[in-house]
Order: sequence, then C-alpha cells, then structure tokens
Amino acid sequence: MSKTIVVIGAQWGDEGKGKIVDLLAARFDIVVRYQGGHNAGHSVQVGDRSFVLHLLPSGIVHPGKICVLGNGMVIDPKAFFEEADRLTAQGIEVSPDRVKISSRAHLILPYHRALDHTSEERLGNEKVGTTLRGIGPAYEDKAGRRGIRTADALVPDVLRSRIERNLEDANRIIQAYGGEKLDADEIFNEMLRLTERLGNFISDTTHYLNVAASEGRSILLEGAQATLLDVDHGTYPFVTSSSTTVGGAICGTGLAPHRLTGVLGIVRTYTTRVGEGPFPTEMLEGEAELGQLIRERGREYGASTGRPRRCGWFDAFATRYAAEINGFTSVALTKLDVLDSLDEIKVCTGYKLDGRVCDSLPAVSQDLSRIEPIYATQPGWKTSTVGTTEMSSLPANARRYVEFLSAQIGVEIGLVSTGPERSQTIVVHHSALGSWLND
Ligand code: GDP
Ligand code: IMO
Ligand code: MG
Repeated sequence: MSKTIVVIGAQWGDEGKGKIVDLLAARFDIVVRYQGGHNAGHSVQVGDRSFVLHLLPSGIVHPGKICVLGNGMVIDPKAFFEEADRLTAQGIEVSPDRVKISSRAHLILPYHRALDHTSEERLGNEKVGTTLRGIGPAYEDKAGRRGIRTADALVPDVLRSRIERNLEDANRIIQAYGGEKLDADEIFNEMLRLTERLGNFISDTTHYLNVAASEGRSILLEGAQATLLDVDHGTYPFVTSSSTTVGGAICGTGLAPHRLTGVLGIVRTYTTRVGEGPFPTEMLEGEAELGQLIRERGREYGASTGRPRRCGWFDAFATRYAAEINGFTSVALTKLDVLDSLDEIKVCTGYKLDGRVCDSLPAVSQDLSRIEPIYATQPGWKTSTVGTTEMSSLPANARRYVEFLSAQIGVEIGLVSTGPERSQTIVVHHSALGSWLND
C-alpha cells in the first residue's frame, strides 16, 4: 500500500513542522496543506538558505514535488502571490504544474482582515491574540454558508454579488466599532485581478488526491497550527478556527480515512505559545530569566508575526492528550539542542486542580489557567548536542531525557532534531518514521 502520512503539531504550534515536513518530503510524491491559512509560518533551512512558508506546503522547497492547498484551507490570494513571488525570487518554482489549489477552498477577503481586528478590539482583555490575518472571520463565513470559494470567485457575477451582500453586514460591524467602511467596487476589482491569476492554479484537488492515492503515489499531509489550538479539542476559546487534528486532514482534503497509513506528532523538548490563553507550564516570575534564555537560544519569535513566543517546560500531560486524539504512530522530537546549557529540566507529568489530580484535560479555559502542574525533574547534560546525527553520540542524560519523554507520551520517538538545518537530525532507523524515510 502507498504511504499517506499526516504531520501534526502536538502543542500550541511552531514545534518545527516545517523542518520535519521538508525532511520527509524527499520520500513523498505529493505534499498537502489541509487547514488554516497564512496564520502558519513554517521554517525550512537547507544549508545557508532559509525559507518561511505560510500558505504553500513545505514540500515546495524540493524541486518536482507536487504541492496541494486543500479544500479545508482559507486562502488570501494577495498573500499567496506575495509568497509565490518571494519563493520564485529565491529560485523555487511555483507554477500551476506543481501547485494545485482546491476549487473548494475558501477565500480570505479584505473585510475578513478588518473583522479580525474589530473582533479582537471588542474582546479587549479577553482577546485571543490572533494573527490578524482574517482566519477566524473567513471560517465563520464558511460555516455560516456565506463564504466565497475559489471556484465561485472565477465567475465574476457570483464574486460581485457575494462581495456586495457580505460587505453590507461586515461594514455594519466595522463601522459600529469605529472602523472605516470598505468599498465593494474596490474589493471586487482587486479580487477579480487576483483570482484571474489564481485561476490557473485552481482544480478539483479532492479527485486528484484520491486518484493519486489509488495509483499508489505517496502523500504527505502537513498540518498547520497544532492540537491545542484545534477549534474542538484545543484550549477554547483561545484557539484557531480550524480542525488542526487528524480529522481535519480528512475533511480538509476529501481523502477517505482508510488512506491514512500513519500519523506523526511533532513535539518540542519544551513548550511555547504565541498569543493569549492558558499555559500551565509557562516560565513566569521566578523562571522568567530561564524563559528568556530559551527564547533567545531557540529563537522563539513568531515566523509569521515576529511576536515573542511565551516559553514553558515540556507538558507531558497535554502531549499525551494530543497523542490520544491524533493516534500518533511516531513522534519527531525537535529542539533538543536548545536545552543544552540547563542544569536541570522540569517535565510536567500531571495536572492538579483545586488540590485534586486531573484524569483528563479540563475543558474550561479558566480552570486551565489555575492548573498546578506536577513536575518531575530530570538532570541536564551541559554539553552541546548541536548537529548530532546519531543517538549513540548524544550525552547519556540527553538520551535519558528523550527516553523519559517517549515513556511519558506513550509513543516511540522516531526522530530527534538537533538544529534547524535539514542534516541536523537523528533518525531512529528501527522506528515507524525511519521506515517512512527508508522505503
Ligand atoms: P512550525 O510552525 O512548526 O513549522 O515551526 P516554526 O518554523 O514556526 O518554528 C520552529 C523554529 O525552530 C524555526 O525557526 C526552525 O528553523 C527552528 N528549528 C526547528 N528544529 C530545530 C532544532 O532542532 N533546533 C533548533 N535550534 N531550531 C530548530
Ligand atoms: P504554525 O503552523 C503558533 C495562534 C495565534 C492565536 C490563535 C488564533 O506556524 O504552528 P488565528 O490567527 O489563527 O485566528 O489565531 O492561534 N496561532 C498560532 N500559533 N503557530 C501557528 O502556526 C499559529 N497560527 C495561529 O497566535 O493565539
Ligand atoms: Mg510556525
């Protein structure tokens, strides 16, 4: 049977999905994004060349790989062409021959961006801290059956009438909160120009992917955001507006569930979060300096927005939850090298709420904010692991830390990442992930 593997972030995003997808992409025919939009920022480093992908799958860096933007995505055409032009200038081919956009994907229009701003302002202290890219409002329109899909936008009359109708409502909200009214003609003319150019990229990717799978071609599905930002399973309401977990890969591509042959969780050796919302293991007060050290060593600044990422200890309780929901077959553990200088490393093995041990992740965000983490302390290794490519070359305590995390999550660790560059990687050859790279 052909390989169809889903790659999913296990924490709150930025686990290093881009690096791992790039690494795996060499062994796959097609790489697919299935949800989210340009709220994602996936970094790939090959030698001294760096790429940041927002809408395009990270497989684009490999010449000849087919890249699909699935029906579950929300696509801002302006952002798409900015990214395509930037990549072209970096010598990457972004042509309709290798990039296919689903005719059923939804568009992000300028009023979605304006509504994202308005919504955050209205929430004040309770704001989500979104990327302000219009993601939430575009998904709201999709669920509200008012959205404009890429295929609709190719019919100018349909595009115009939907923009006019949707903008009437959007302008009411924007103006009520002191924003500036948007002009339907202006939006229509801009979108017409962009979608004409987009037309060559648009096709029925659902059919394409199912045919490809039945012909035995291998498919890598690249999740964006992460499990704890999932609209159902994440730390609601401090989440994104799409299904970031394994079900999203099915809905967001139209591939039948039996096609999936593996699910890879991407897990960092510590945790970060961008934006607002509960974060039980965050390094605060007495640990703020440590948080800053990790932020600098791990270069923890948003790849999309440049915002400093909040840093915290590894949360095994939340990661076990991610493993349960997604059914990880293997885990890629990233950023081991960032912890190189620490004397001791804390790992949250469980949660307590009001003095009682939790047996599952609390559903209410106010409860999550009051969690008392139960920590186990592991010894550090105080030696550089940067660029290590063999498990046997790791310091003993680093190897023990990896084994401890694997036991805590309850899933094999098939890869350990020791730097941002493609080759700075340890592959565990007798693992599921090792087999995906070898066959
Ligand atoms: P993504 O959104 O999950 O693709 O992750 P991002 O690209 O937003 O953030 C991950 C950051 O960590 C990027 O700057 C990567 O280049 C970098 N990175 C990935 N793996 C490693 C690693 O093992 N060590 C170090 N030091 N950096 C890494
Ligand atoms: P990648 O794919 C980290 C966060 C935002 C905010 C919340 C909702 O690079 O891991 P949105 O704009 O989606 O409505 O914002 O989700 N967020 C991310 N955090 N990595 C991402 O993507 C994110 N995409 C959205 O910061 O808290
Ligand atoms: Mg990112």
